[in-house]
Amino acid sequence: MRLLDTISALRAQIEGDVAGVASREDAERFRLTHLVKKGTLQACVDELRSVPKEDKPVVGKALNELRTLAEIAYEQAVATYGAPAPVPTIDTTLPGRGVRVGAVHPITQSVQKLVEIFGSMGFEVAEGPDVEDDDHNFGKLNFAEDHPARDMQDTFFVDAADRADVLLRTHTSSVQVRVMQSMKPPIRCIMPGRVYRNEAVSARSLAEFHQIEGLYIDKGVSMADLKGTIMEFARRFYDAHAEFRFRTSYFPFTEPSCEIDMSCFLCKGDGCRICKHSGWLEICGAGMVHPNVLRACGIDPEEYSGFAFGFGVERVVLMMTGIDDIRMLYDNDLRVLGQFR
Ligand code: DAH
Repeated sequence: MRLLDTISALRAQIEGDVAGVASREDAERFRLTHLVKKGTLQACVDELRSVPKEDKPVVGKALNELRTLAEIAYEQAVATYGAPAPVPTIDTTLPGRGVRVGAVHPITQSVQKLVEIFGSMGFEVAEGPDVEDDDHNFGKLNFAEDHPARDMQDTFFVDAADRADVLLRTHTSSVQVRVMQSMKPPIRCIMPGRVYRNEAVSARSLAEFHQIEGLYIDKGVSMADLKGTIMEFARRFYDAHAEFRFRTSYFPFTEPSCEIDMSCFLCKGDGCRICKHSGWLEICGAGMVHPNVLRACGIDPEEYSGFAFGFGVERVVLMMTGIDDIRMLYDNDLRVLGQFR
């Protein structure tokens, strides 16, 4: 009976091991050698299957006695030296998880940079409400009641119980009005904010986007100041060697009005994807504040003059990054946004 021999050899080993236990680490080692599923005793139990039936009672009994002996010895060792230290549940050998550092959204980055550059030229930040009334968004900006210019921008109107003139501002020019009503010239303000238009969302337009408005009112402000300010800004923001083109345009709140193009900062005018092969990039709308607007806001146009301008922030970001679908800026896909730190 080979197994019986194995058991008595194991008994000798176990007795030897028991005698050698002198600490809780020894006790634990003893348990792991003999008493666990993959231990020596279980190996004998597994072999019991191949023992002839008639021998089983004898071998089984020997094995049971040995197991009892080992268990008692282990319990005594635990009583003497204490239970084994708990096995740590943290696997310190696993590779660590990288910590992702967040970054400022490219829209916010651009707004911050614009504010910084105009700030260095003496413009301070002003803000106004997103929910406006018709008078600040249109009326005081010289949009006549039935003026077709009101159709230039599709407006979201807000259901208000007692009035029909509440809307989501369609441009940050509404903040100009509030600034002129609340400040005395000289006024030099930059007004970033969200604007809303009832437009179909596409690769080129959103119903909710950002603008930055600028306003400078003082004695003797001229179109030359407007040109100088915009060119200084664009050279610092985009390209130190840019060329400029002032095209006549129309806005009800400025006279004269213009749109300003800059030679493409990428291809320097040769034509590329960013400038749609024209060599020019439109950067903003601007003009001299209309005397009607000054008057409506309590500023005497005989004494003061000024200029205003408006940028679309998303347009700026698309130009700078080469992203060709405006919606990507709002998908919150970190593979896209993570590239603009
Ligand atoms: N409010 C205009 C728009 O939303 C942009 C604009 C053009 C603002 C000319 C101005 C300006 O202040 O002078 O399209």
